[in-house]
Amino acid sequence: MLGLPQSDELVFFVNGRKVIERNADPEVTLLTFLRKNWTLCLTGTKYACGRGSCGACTVMVSKCDPVSKKIRHFSITACLVPICSLYGAAVTTVEGVGSIKTKLHPVQERIAKSHGTQCGFCTPGMVMSMYTLLRNHPQPSEEQLMEALGGNLCRCTGYRPILESGKTFCMESNGCQQKGAGGCCLAQGEEDSSSLCRSSDISTELFAKDEFQPLDPTQELIFPPELLRLAENPEERTLTFRGERVTWISPGTLKDLLELKVKHPEAPLVLGNTSLGPAMKSQGHVHPILLSPVRISELSMVSTTSEGLTIGAGCSLAQVKDILAERVSELPEEKTQTYRALLKHLKSLAGQQIRNMASLGGHIISRHCYSDLNPILAVGNATLNLISAGGARQVPLSEHFLAGLASADLRPEEVLESVHIPHSQKGELVSAFRQAQCQHNAWAHVNAGMRVLLKEGTDTIEDLSIAFGGLGAATVSARQSCQQLRGRRWNELMLDEACRLLLDEVSLPGSAPGGRVEFKRTLVVSFLFKFYLQVLQTLKPLDGLRYPDVSDPFLSGLEDFSVTVPQGVQRYQSVDSRQPLQDPVGRPIMHLSGLKHATGEAMFCDDIPRVEKELFMALVTSTRAHAKIISIDLSKALELPGVVDVITAEDIPGTNGTEDEKLLAVDEVLCVGQIICAVAAETDVQAKRAIEEIKVTYEDLKPVIITIEDAIKHNSFLCPEKKLEQGNIEEAFEKVDQIVEGEVHVGGQEHFYMETQRVLVIPKTEDTELDIYVSTQDPAHVQKTVSSTLNIPSNRITCHVKRVGGGFGGKVGKSAVFGAIAAVGAIKTGHPVRLVLDREDDMLITGGRHPLFGKYKVGFMNNGRIKALDIECFINGGCTLDDSEQVTEFLVLKLENAYKIQNLRFRGRACMTNLPSNTAFRGYGFPQGTLVTESCITAVAAKCGLLPEKVREKNMYKTVDKTIYKQAFSPENLIRCWDECLDKSSFGSRRKQVEAFNTKNYWKKKGLAIIPMKFSVGFGATSYHQAAALVHIYTDGSVLVTHGGNELGQGIHTKMLQVASRELKIPMSYMHICETSTATVPNTIATAASIGSDVNGRAVQNACQILLKRLEPIIKKNPEGSWEDWIEAAFEQRISLSATGYFRGYKAFMDWEKGEGDPFPYYVYGAACSEVEIDCLTGAHKKIRTDIVMDAGCSLNPAIDIGQVEGAFIQGMGLYTTEELKYSPEGVLYSRGPDDYKIPTITDVPEEFNVSLLPASETPINIYSSKGLGESGMFLGSSVFFAITDAVAAARRERDIAEDFTVKSPATPEWVRMACADRFTEMIPRDDPKTFRPWSIPIA
Ligand SMILES: Cc1cc2nc3c(=O)[nH]c(=O)nc-3n(C[C@H](O)[C@H](O)[C@H](O)COP(=O)(O)OP(=O)(O)OC[C@H]3O[C@@H](n4cnc5c(N)ncnc54)[C@H](O)[C@@H]3O)c2cc1C
Ligand code: FES
Ligand code: FES
Repeated sequence: MLGLPQSDELVFFVNGRKVIERNADPEVTLLTFLRKNWTLCLTGTKYACGRGSCGACTVMVSKCDPVSKKIRHFSITACLVPICSLYGAAVTTVEGVGSIKTKLHPVQERIAKSHGTQCGFCTPGMVMSMYTLLRNHPQPSEEQLMEALGGNLCRCTGYRPILESGKTFCMESNGCQQKGAGGCCLAQGEEDSSSLCRSSDISTELFAKDEFQPLDPTQELIFPPELLRLAENPEERTLTFRGERVTWISPGTLKDLLELKVKHPEAPLVLGNTSLGPAMKSQGHVHPILLSPVRISELSMVSTTSEGLTIGAGCSLAQVKDILAERVSELPEEKTQTYRALLKHLKSLAGQQIRNMASLGGHIISRHCYSDLNPILAVGNATLNLISAGGARQVPLSEHFLAGLASADLRPEEVLESVHIPHSQKGELVSAFRQAQCQHNAWAHVNAGMRVLLKEGTDTIEDLSIAFGGLGAATVSARQSCQQLRGRRWNELMLDEACRLLLDEVSLPGSAPGGRVEFKRTLVVSFLFKFYLQVLQTLKPLDGLRYPDVSDPFLSGLEDFSVTVPQGVQRYQSVDSRQPLQDPVGRPIMHLSGLKHATGEAMFCDDIPRVEKELFMALVTSTRAHAKIISIDLSKALELPGVVDVITAEDIPGTNGTEDEKLLAVDEVLCVGQIICAVAAETDVQAKRAIEEIKVTYEDLKPVIITIEDAIKHNSFLCPEKKLEQGNIEEAFEKVDQIVEGEVHVGGQEHFYMETQRVLVIPKTEDTELDIYVSTQDPAHVQKTVSSTLNIPSNRITCHVKRVGGGFGGKVGKSAVFGAIAAVGAIKTGHPVRLVLDREDDMLITGGRHPLFGKYKVGFMNNGRIKALDIECFINGGCTLDDSEQVTEFLVLKLENAYKIQNLRFRGRACMTNLPSNTAFRGYGFPQGTLVTESCITAVAAKCGLLPEKVREKNMYKTVDKTIYKQAFSPENLIRCWDECLDKSSFGSRRKQVEAFNTKNYWKKKGLAIIPMKFSVGFGATSYHQAAALVHIYTDGSVLVTHGGNELGQGIHTKMLQVASRELKIPMSYMHICETSTATVPNTIATAASIGSDVNGRAVQNACQILLKRLEPIIKKNPEGSWEDWIEAAFEQRISLSATGYFRGYKAFMDWEKGEGDPFPYYVYGAACSEVEIDCLTGAHKKIRTDIVMDAGCSLNPAIDIGQVEGAFIQGMGLYTTEELKYSPEGVLYSRGPDDYKIPTITDVPEEFNVSLLPASETPINIYSSKGLGESGMFLGSSVFFAITDAVAAARRERDIAEDFTVKSPATPEWVRMACADRFTEMIPRDDPKTFRPWSIPIA
C-alpha cells in the first residue's frame, strides 16, 4: 500500500465517553470492539448471528446531519458495522441507557417487570430497539413499536410480554382497559359461564403499571458537544484507517471520492455494509481498499421536481421510506403509484436496524436476486445518476443493468450519486408483490413489480412492464411477454395468454438454487392474477357497464395481510387473600435476573473477560457425509501467526467419546459437520483463518443415507423398534365401518437458542484442576465427559453455569462435546481455552429435533368413533444414537395423546442416516408424533363428514382410566381444559363465522382448530428423578441457595427462592443464588423434561426445613426476635447453618417386553384453539386468534408459567409453520442462520392471544401442587397447523379436489399454496423428477 498516508485517529463516542482509536482496523466490527476492547468491555451487546438478522447486537447510533443540523438517532446491528464507519458518531449501548448500579431506564425497568425476559440473551437488543424508538418518539404508536421490534428475535418469550412492556409507552393502547378488574373486553365466551370468569380470585394482571417510573426524555444522554462542533465545521480532509489486510479511506468531498475511485477502481464503496459485509464473511473475500462515502453530503441530497423524485444514493432505506411517505401524503394518488409500491415493500424488508443502515445505492448496486426494490424501480422507469471524475451521466435501471451487462453498468470509476424515480401518470397502476417464508423480516421467495398503462378511458394496454426477483441470478424482466401483450384488452383472455407467456419467458429449471421451483412458478402467475384483479378494480369506476366488477368472492384475492398489534389477556388464579404478603409462592414475581438482563449486566459465558494467556478455539468439520479420512494436513495452519496448536484425536489422553460417537473423528466421518480437529490460536480471527488452511483429504464411502426413505431401504437403524399394543387391532379393523390410511411428514427443528454453544476452560496450576464455565443444561455431564476424555477424576473438574442463553434440549448432551474438546486444548497447550461457536457452525454441527415420517391406518365407525389405530413412526436420528432411542420411546408412549382407543398398535424406529446426530428438543418426540395422531383424527372427521372437534371430543378420555401402557390417570383436568377452551374461544359461534366467511371468499379461507393435550412430564427412569440442594445461612442472616437446576431462562432460580422464602419464612431479598456448580451440588441431573423446578424445589424445601428445624428451639425461646437475632443465637450455640437438601423422586419404570409401566410422575393437560386466514394465491397466512387453557396445577409463579406456555407455543408454531431445514442431496445443511431458517418474529404472534391457567387443580405429588410447564405448550402450536389445514381443506372442497392430502409440517407458504390447487397450479410446467438433481431433498 505504498504511497498511502499513515492511519488517522478514529474518533467517536461510546455512552458519552470519547474513544480515540489510533490503529483502527477496518475489519473490526463495532460488536467486536465493544465486547473485546479492554477499556470498554461492554458485553451487554450480544453476538447471536453476526449477520444483522437477529437484533441481539442492537445499539443506537446518533449523528448530526451537517445540512439540517438535526441529530438523528437510529438503531443498528453492531455485528455489521465496521468501527471505521463511526467517525464522528455517538454510540449508545445498553450499558449507556441505565444500570442497576446507577439508575435504571424506564425501558429496562418495564421490560423486566413485564416479564419480557426469560434467558435474557435477546433483552439488551430489545431494550436498544425500544430505547431508540423512544428517543425519536417519546410516545410512539403501537404500530411504530411493532416496527421497531420487527428485527429483534427472541426464542424464549413468544414476544407478548416484550410488546406489553413497550405498549406502556404508547400513546393509545388498544389493549384490554379492564385488565386487573377481573374481566376483559376480549372475553367473548358464548354464555360466559366458565369458572374462570365467574371466579373472583382470577387475576389478569401480571405486573403493576403504576409502579413504573415515568419516561423523562430530558434525562437522556446528550449528543456530545464536540461532535456537534465537528458537524458544524465538517472536516474535508480524507481520513485513512489502515488495518493488517484492509485500508479504509473516507474522503470528505465528492471530488476526492471521485479521484480515489479513479485511483482504486476496484475498491467497493461501503455504505451500510449490509451487503458487502455478509458477502465478505461468507466468501472469505477481502477487499484491500474500501472507500467510505458517508461524509459526502451530495449522496444524501433529495430533490423533487414536477416529474419525480431524486433520492441520494447514500440515503438509508429508512430515510427513503420517510421521504416516500411524505410524497405520498402530498401528491395525488395517480402520481405516487411507484412510491406506494416501494413503500409497501419497505415496510417488510428486513428489520428496522437494517433499514436504518442499508443505503438505497448499496441496495441497487448489490443487485441481489431477491431485491425487493429493484423490480419496482425497474418497472417504474427509474434512472441512475452516475458521476465520475470525467462527468455525470444517466443510465436506466433496466433489465440490462440488473443483469450486470457491461454496456448498461457503472464504469469502475463511477459512483451512483442518486436515483430518479418518476411520478406515475394518469391511467398507470404500479403494484408490488412478495411472498416469503413469513411476512416480515424474511427474504422473499419471489417478488415482483408490475406496471400497466392503459390507453385513456379504455382497458387497452398501452404499456406494460413486469419484473421478478427470486427467479434467477438477478432481477428478471418479462420484457418480451409485456411487448406481446401491448394493445391487448385487460380481460380473461389476456390473462390466460399472459400467464402462458410469463411461464415461458421467466422459466426456472427444476434444479434451480433455492429450490421451491414449482411454488415459485406458481407465484409468478398468482401475482399476475392479483395484479389483474387490481387493474380490473380500477377500471370499474371508469365505466361500470363495460368493465364489470370483480365478483365479491374473488375480491378476496386482492388484499395482502396487514400487520396488527397483538392483544390478549392472561388469566391465572391469584393467591389466597390469607396468604402472608411476604410469602411469594403463587405470585407473579419477576425473573431474578430480569433487571440485569435488561441492563446488560447479566453475565453469560462469553461475557467473562479475557483471562491471561487465553487462546481461542475454532473447529474443523467434515465436508463429506460419509467418507474415509485419508489425510489431514495441518502444516500451513500451524505456520500462521498466532496459531498455537491444532488438536486432533491423537491428543486425547483418555477416551475419545464413545465407540458410537467420537469427540474428534478418527479415520472416518459420518456426516457433514462432524468435528475433525480444532485450532487453538491467540485470537478468534487467527483461529478462524487457520481452519481454512487445514486440508483434509477424503475418500467417499457408500452408502450415503440422508433420508428416512433411504434408511428404511438400507435397513439402517440406530436401535430396535419400540412397540406398544392394546386390544386386538386386526380383529377391530374387520368390524369397522371405514378404514383410512395416510402418511404424515414432520420436518426437524433447530434449537436456535440465541446464545450459541460456548465454553471457557481454565486449567489451574495445581493438581490438574480445571474450571469450566459452560453454557449447558447438564454441567455434571460436561464434568463426566471431560473427566473421561482427560483421564482425570471428576473431583478435579468444576463446571460452573451462571445462566444459559436458551437451551431447549440442545445443551443437554452437545455442550459436553465442546467442553471436552476445549479441555483437551487447555491441557495440551497449558492455556485457558475459549470456544464460542458461530451461528453457522452451531447449526451445522449440533443437530436438533428429529424429523419424522409416520404412517397410519385408522378404523372407525361412521359416527366418528375410532375403534382401531395403527401408527408406525420413523425418526431421522442422524449418524449416532445420542438420545434417539429415548426419543423413540417417548414418542411411542405419548402417541395416544388425549384419546381412549380400544385397539392400538404404536411402533417407532430411529433411522441411522449420514446427518449430524439429532438430539433432545423441547417435547422430546411428542410434538412430532402426536401430529400423526391428530392428523388421523382430522382424516376420520373428513371421511365421516363430521367436524374434527366433534371426533376429537368423541374419542377423548372421559373417566379415570389407564393409558396404553397401563398407567392409571384421571382425565378430569383434560376435560376441564377442553371445555374451558371451547368456551373461552367462543368456538361454536366462531366455527359458524368461519364457515360463513369461507362461502363468501374464494381466494382467502379461514380455518379453525381446537387441539386437546395430555402431556406426561419427567424422565422415564427412576435415577433421573432426584435432586439436591445446598443452603447456607450466613451470620448476617443472608442466605445462599444452590441447587442442581440450571437457569436456562425458565426462571428456575426465581422459583427456588420463592420456595426457600416460604419455607424459611423470610423475604426473598435475604436470598441469593450465585450459580450452579458441580462443586456445590454434585451428580446433578440435566435440567430438562419439565421437572427441574419440581425436583429441585423439593430439595430446596428439604434443606430449608432441616435448617428451620434446627432453628426452632431458638425461635421458640425468642419468638419476638428477628431473623438476624435467631441466626446470631444459632451461631453462638454452635448450630450448623448449612444444610443439604435431597429429593428422592418418583419411581419411574417401563417394561417394554410387557408394554406396561409407570413411566411418568404426572400429566399436564391443556387445550388450544387457533384461527387463521390463508391466502390461497400466495400460501401466506395470518394468525387471527389463539386461546390456550393450561393446567398448571397451583402455579408457583404464574408470570413465569404463562411465559413458558406462551414461549413454547410460539416455538411450536414455528416448528409447524415456518422453520424449515434445507439439506442438499449430499447431506449439506443449507439453512445455517436466521436468514434462511425462520423462527417466529414479533409479527407472527396471533393478533389475539389469550392464555388461561386452569384454576386450583391439586396435584399433591409436586411441590405445593405445582406442575412443570417447560415443554407442553410446544405441541399446542399445532392448533395453528390444524387451523391452516382446516382452511386448506375448505379451499379444496370448494375446488372439488380430494380432501385427503398428504400432511406435511411445516405448513409453509409453499405447502399451503401448492395444496390449494387451482387453475394456476395446473398451468405451471412440472419436471420429471428423473431428469434433474434437485437443489434440496426432504429428509423426513
Ligand atoms: C439481515 C438482512 C436482511 C435483509 N433483508 C432484505 C429483504 O428482505 N429484502 C431486500 O430486498 N433486501 C434485504 N436485505 C439486503 C439489503 O437491502 C441490502 O444489503 C442493502 O440495501 C445494501 O445496502 P448497503 O448500503 O448496506 O450496501 P453495502 O453493503 O455498503 O454496499 C453494497 C455494494 O454496493 C456498492 N455501492 C454502494 N453504494 C454505492 C454507490 N453510491 N455507488 C456505487 N456503488 C455503490 C458497493 O460498492 C458494494 O459493492 C437484507 C440485508 C440484511 C443484512
Ligand atoms: S444481528 Fe448482530 S448478532 Fe445477530
Ligand atoms: S429471552 Fe429472548 S431469547 Fe431468551
